Amino acid sequence: MSNTTLKKEKSNLLEIKNLKTYYPIKGGFLRKTVAHVKAVDDVSFEIKNGETLGLVGESGCGKSTTGRTILRLLEPTDGQILFEGKDITSLRGKSLREIRKDMQMVFQDPYASLNPMQMVGDVISEPIRNFSNKSQKSLKNEVMDLLKKVGLPEDAYYKYAHEFSGGQRQRIGIARALALRPKLIIADEPVSALDVSVQSQVLNLLKELQDEFDLTFLFIAHDLSVVKHMSDRIGVMYLGNIVEIADKENIYAEPMHPYTQALISAIPVPDPRKKSERIVLQGDVPSPVNPPSGCPFHPRCPHAMESCTTEKPVLKEVNPGHRVACHLY
Ligand SMILES: Nc1ncnc2c1ncn2[C@@H]1O[C@H](COP(=O)(O)OP(=O)(O)OP(=O)(O)O)[C@@H](O)[C@H]1O
Ligand SMILES: [Mg+2]
Repeated sequence: MSNTTLKKEKSNLLEIKNLKTYYPIKGGFLRKTVAHVKAVDDVSFEIKNGETLGLVGESGCGKSTTGRTILRLLEPTDGQILFEGKDITSLRGKSLREIRKDMQMVFQDPYASLNPMQMVGDVISEPIRNFSNKSQKSLKNEVMDLLKKVGLPEDAYYKYAHEFSGGQRQRIGIARALALRPKLIIADEPVSALDVSVQSQVLNLLKELQDEFDLTFLFIAHDLSVVKHMSDRIGVMYLGNIVEIADKENIYAEPMHPYTQALISAIPVPDPRKKSERIVLQGDVPSPVNPPSGCPFHPRCPHAMESCTTEKPVLKEVNPGHRVACHLY
């Protein structure tokens, strides 16, 4: 490996700093903003070139909002988004369009995200047509090539999305996301709507494509077992915050945050001789409109102390590359 590739692999493709995305809640006769859903409330992480960061957490903790804010489909309330070192937080117009080529999304629901009235060839070539005026012939060649890469037959070109199974539709969605040769793909629960039997096929495809196209992934899931196979590092979210982030091995072998420990203990263990004590959390996830004071996890935390109710713990490095937001450390 040459020196330059080594260097490239180590640099950050994406860095987000203290990102906040609040949804306004309108109320009253004048439709004024009366409160906010603090969907993303201070999230920081980085993803290195070629790496996969898994982002996990329960439903409603802000994973999709984080992903959509990075793509600038949502306006951040505060914080910074750096892509290849460049601040893209407030890009507009043409420069925003340019950067969008480099970042694409694969959605959870391939049924909802593909236009059923459009021929698959057109679905996949649409992003290319939006950014260039290539000839019909070269467009078609590119789409045929993409179909092959995602494991679909050539005649898929002339069919409609509704003619395909869930797994195949997700392959169409992936081909479309690849069309502009992006650097970053945000995959938002890309297999959770699929039959278990096809989930691993689609996951394997994503892994193969990652190698072939030098892709960097933000891989969103609410299930730690899905991200395990995909990720190099894992970030755990709770109520709009990253509570722990580390290399995959460390997250599984040595989870530090009580919330991560509970998530890990919920993964079924195939070997019955291995003892595992399931940690059952009390209560429900509080509302992100009115998050608890101090640590957002304190009302459910088995280890909560006095300071947890008043002081919000910051995400700090406890072991090399292992960051935790918890007063226990
Ligand atoms: N358009 C919106 N307007 C107001 N609140 C929203 C909107 N979209 C999401 N929310 C709220 O923001 C919070 C975070 O939602 P988000 O969809 O980002 O969570 P998530 O982690 O992706 O959940 P899931 O696992 O269910 O996909 C939730 O409380 C949700 O109800
Ligand atoms: Mg979501």
